Amino acid sequence: MKLCVVIGSGRVGGNTEQLADAFIKGAEEAGHEAVKIHLGKVKIGPCLGCNGCVAGGACVQKDDFPLFARAFLDCDALVLTTPLYFWGISGQLKSLIDRIYSIGEKDPKGYFKYPMKKCAMLCTAADSDRHFWAFELVEQYYRRLVNYMHWEDLGLLAAGGCGGSGTFPRRIEETPHLQRAYEFGKGLR
Ligand SMILES: Cc1cc2nc3c(=O)[nH]c(=O)nc-3n(C[C@H](O)[C@H](O)[C@H](O)COP(=O)(O)O)c2cc1C
Repeated sequence: MKLCVVIGSGRVGGNTEQLADAFIKGAEEAGHEAVKIHLGKVKIGPCLGCNGCVAGGACVQKDDFPLFARAFLDCDALVLTTPLYFWGISGQLKSLIDRIYSIGEKDPKGYFKYPMKKCAMLCTAADSDRHFWAFELVEQYYRRLVNYMHWEDLGLLAAGGCGGSGTFPRRIEETPHLQRAYEFGKGLR
């Protein structure tokens, strides 16, 4: 399978990218190919809601979105990764997902149709996952998204207890999550 792996963190080499890399390592060992798009390294702005794309044109914004669009249209599976930000996904990842609006096909009745994909999500958080609600909203959002898009759900890996970034000590290496992500990638079908 061809994978399009989106790193939805602004931090290069942070918890989220490490988790994604472990996933990619497993997936590549299992014979899959991955294209990685790091949202901390590209400029993809939020949807402006201008509906220019609904009128049949491409998105009016001149930024790096086409980089993602090409990888997305070409992939079999989209892998979304994000740090938990105030119990939700990161702003960078939400902006990217909203921009997929611009590449949906619009039928004469105005309904949108998106390319069929498989989809997985990986989410890191500072807090321990013993707080059952830590990933509750991310999980709900992910399920709703996959369902609306008619995508095939490959699963969600919630990686709690990774510690912080920057001044907070990072602990992802001390958790089982890198191994879990590797096995998730390796087991992809
Ligand atoms: C703006 C912001 C909001 C955050 N909100 C939460 C949160 O609600 N719950 C949590 O457990 N961790 C929260 N964190 C911590 C990050 O989710 C966690 O450290 C993550 O693993 C960082 O990933 P990164 O190194 O890829 O940036 C927050 C961090 C930031 C910067």
